[in-house]
This record gives sequence, structure tokens and C-alpha cells, in this order.
Amino acid sequence: MAIQWFPGHMHLTRQAIMERVKDIDVVIEVLDARLPGSSANPLLQEMTGHKPRLKILNKQDMADPTQTKAWIDWYNAQSETRAIGLDASEPAPTKRLIEQCKLLAPTRGGLAKPMRVLICGVPNVGKSTLINSMSGKTQAKTGNEAGVTKLEQRIVLADDFYLWDTPGMLWPRIIVEKSGFNLAASGAVGRNAYDEELVVLELLLYLQKNYAGMLAARYKLGLNDEEIAALHDDELLTLIGKKRGAVMSGGRVNLQKAAELVLTDFRDVTIGRITLETPAEFEVWLAAGQLK
Ligand code: G4P
Repeated sequence: MAIQWFPGHMHLTRQAIMERVKDIDVVIEVLDARLPGSSANPLLQEMTGHKPRLKILNKQDMADPTQTKAWIDWYNAQSETRAIGLDASEPAPTKRLIEQCKLLAPTRGGLAKPMRVLICGVPNVGKSTLINSMSGKTQAKTGNEAGVTKLEQRIVLADDFYLWDTPGMLWPRIIVEKSGFNLAASGAVGRNAYDEELVVLELLLYLQKNYAGMLAARYKLGLNDEEIAALHDDELLTLIGKKRGAVMSGGRVNLQKAAELVLTDFRDVTIGRITLETPAEFEVWLAAGQLK
């Protein structure tokens, strides 16, 4: 089952970006450091042409630090692109962002030629949190429901630095199935668009192979990495359900409840700092021409 997500305001966002972009010097895309490929919008490049791009891998405190570094290197190797990691605990990200934008558009700055920046990102990636901490007051609404930011707004970060905020936007269609699952696991996709159990089975499949030790520790599985990797994903979910008391009368495991517990644990970083995709895996998707 693919994740279905195509709300109407995504059209409006696309339109807003295309209208704004001619007056923009740098495009900031806020990514989720746990899924730096899937949370990037492949249409953004098409919409913004050769404008220099700053990729912010946000929520780096939730992601696997080794993978965050690999992704930053991968993005930095692309032309006209800079990438940095960030998280909500950084007290004043403005200075670092202004510095990075100046590196990308060195001719801009000063009152005569203010830096004009467009910021975008999929819902729930932390865009409002970032804007609020940069502007020092509550300008953008934050919340955990996908798609809270609705209207374009201009934020003045310095006399010569303007930031245009756009509403959160997912891809018009999520074409790569795995990306859809990763976006759903992260919380970027509205709850009605996916089946939690399916999303968690995909999540567990990845964690079994890449973060088995964390699963063993969180759920006291009493199994080694190989034993965990050998489990069928629904066997693993059943085992977790048993360990966490998600059991119905008659002793059967409530898989829906177990899935909710795993999803909450993943989102709360209770399992550990996890990244759901590597640059190498993402390149395979790109090579297969699956991203449009
Ligand atoms: P959006 O505008 O892109 O839709 O996202 P928003 O800023 O509303 O952030 C979505 C959730 O992600 C918020 O949590 C926010 O606190 C959290 N968040 C944002 N940036 C970071 C980060 O760098 N690290 C971590 N760990 N969390 C981050 P929430 O549960 O909706 O609200 P609350 O926890 O702030 O109460």
C-alpha cells in the first residue's frame, strides 16, 4: 500500500513558491535529519532553478550522528548547495544561517541589496520552531498536526536579511513507496493517509537490519542482532507487543496497539537516535528514476 497524500493547499504552496522565486537569492530547505532524502522535495529544484540552496538537516538531535554527517557531506558535494545540521536546542541559529547564506550569495547584503531568502520544508519538519527561534518571538505557529503553517509570510531577521516563509509542502505525489513510509513514520503525513501497522512493519524491517541492538535494549528482547534480524517483521511486532503488554483477552497481541507504541517510541527517540535512510540507498532510488 502506498501513502496517499495530495491535499489541495499543496497546489497553492507550489504556486506561491514559483511566484516568489524570481526575487529570491537563496532557497533554504529544512529537512528532517532522520530522512534527509525522503523529506527533500524533488520538485523544489525544478521550481527554483539555479538559485543557491541551503539544506538544513533539522532535528539532528533525533538522528543517528554518523548518518547525519554522511548526508551533510553528500549534499555539500552537490553544486550550488550547502548543508548544515541543526536542532531546536540551538539558541541562536540566525547568525549561522546568515553566514551560510552569504557564502552562497556573496554579492548580496547591505541595505541596497538585502539578502532575500525563501524557506520551505515538508510539514512537521520543524520549520516554525526554527523561524520562531530565529525571529525571537512567536511568529510562526508550531504544532504536531501536519500542515499547520498555511500562509506565506515575510520575516525580517536583520535590516538586510528577509526571510520568506512558505507553507509546509510534501511532494505532489509520493512516488517512492519507501519514502512515503519514512515520511509517515516521521509525522510529516496526516494520520488519515496511512495505516500505522504497515508503517511500523516497514520501520521495524529497517531497524532490524540497522539498529537491532537498540531494539533489543528498548524492548528487552533477550536476542542478539542475528536473532533479531532473522525474525519476520510481524513476529518482531508480536514479540514487542508481548513485552510491552499490548495483549488482548485470550492472550493475543494487539498489533495495532503494539504498532502505536513503536511509532511513539520512534518519534520520542525512546528507541534511540535513528536515521531511516542512507545517501547510498537514496542514490539507488534516484538511479531507478523513481523520484519525479
Ligand atoms: P513545522 O512548522 O515544520 O510543521 O514544524 P514545527 O516547528 O511545528 O515542529 C514540529 C514538532 O517538531 C514540534 O513538536 C517541535 O517542537 C519539534 N521540533 C522542531 N525542531 C526540532 C528539533 O530540532 N529537535 C527536536 N527534538 N524536535 C524538534 P511538537 O511535539 O509538535 O510540539 P512541542 O514538542 O514543541 O510541544
